[in-house]
Amino acid sequence: MEIWLEKLFQKLERKFDAECSRIGDKIPYRTEDGEYKTDYAEKNMNWWTNGFWPGILWQMYHATGKESYRQAAEGVERKLDRALWGFIGLHHDVGFMWLHSAVADYRLTGNTESRNRGLLAASILAGRYNPAGRFIRAWNPDCVEEGQDCTGWIIVDSMMNIPLLYWASKEVEDPRFYYIAKNHADTVRRTLVREDGSCGHIACLNPDTGELEKILAGQGYSETSSWSRGQSWILYGFALSYRYTGDPVYLDTAKKTAHYVIANAALTDYVPLCDYRQPANPAYLDASAGLCTACGLLEIAEHVGAEEKHLYREHAERIVKAIAETCCDWEPGRDSIVQNCKVDYHSTGDRQTDLIYADYFLAEAVLRLMGKEFLIW
Ligand code: GLY
Repeated sequence: MEIWLEKLFQKLERKFDAECSRIGDKIPYRTEDGEYKTDYAEKNMNWWTNGFWPGILWQMYHATGKESYRQAAEGVERKLDRALWGFIGLHHDVGFMWLHSAVADYRLTGNTESRNRGLLAASILAGRYNPAGRFIRAWNPDCVEEGQDCTGWIIVDSMMNIPLLYWASKEVEDPRFYYIAKNHADTVRRTLVREDGSCGHIACLNPDTGELEKILAGQGYSETSSWSRGQSWILYGFALSYRYTGDPVYLDTAKKTAHYVIANAALTDYVPLCDYRQPANPAYLDASAGLCTACGLLEIAEHVGAEEKHLYREHAERIVKAIAETCCDWEPGRDSIVQNCKVDYHSTGDRQTDLIYADYFLAEAVLRLMGKEFLIW
């Protein structure tokens, strides 16, 4: 094992041990004054990031065997039942929420109650499929500005939700879920991925035909720009769709996006900008995009030959090292590790913040590099 990775893992473990004893089964998102003061179980049970803390806990349980991680993860999973049974308010991000909680639990422990939760979440996701347009609807009216009709909207983030469908298809030995996922991936590729490997965030489709009507900037700088976290969702998401379908077009899409992202991330010493085509100032960074990219590059590395593997692993390492050295708070007395993230290019309340999913992708990337990860997607 390389020494830098071992040292990095020790720092992660110290930090997550301390956080786990402080917050247990509360649901964190962002810190206030270095503390996870807001419990999302109280604030917004349907929030899309509510699975990432249990995702961290299951990764750490798998890597260390410590019961404290498992107990906290089980606690969050039970709390999420309120969202699952509540149903109203859930949208396509049920993948992020239940892959990291119930499905992870089932995969690691065989808990059949967790399996049921995962299958129910997959059914909710499949229920959002529009067969005429061959896409999974992203959001509900309460997710968008008043007056906007999001019936035909899809977003790149969805590529990380559809592994829930690939899992369910295999689990119940029924290809329905698989075909929904695959048709959706094809629509995302057709409408949002550009020739040069960059991508848009939101595609507005005609809900009766699936025809592309317009692209929206979403969390990026503009409709023709290149939001870096969206790029990482595409890169990693298509690599995962390749894992589950074996369709070579998906691997090519992941690689094309990866080459575009690597070239851009290199320009800022491997800590990505919030948008690869944003104006020079302010130079917002988004470390969360870098870490998700690193995990995606390591996923691609699993599906290519030895000569290419090196390219993807080498760049994943550069990103992880750069972020671990320049963007992280390793003090166990304070909550959250990765700083220098950005939720949305244009929002003003989040100039360089921490985000729970950045910490999740840091943990996954380090464990992947060590060969100790557990595939949560
Ligand atoms: N899925 C929303 C985001 O990446 O911020």
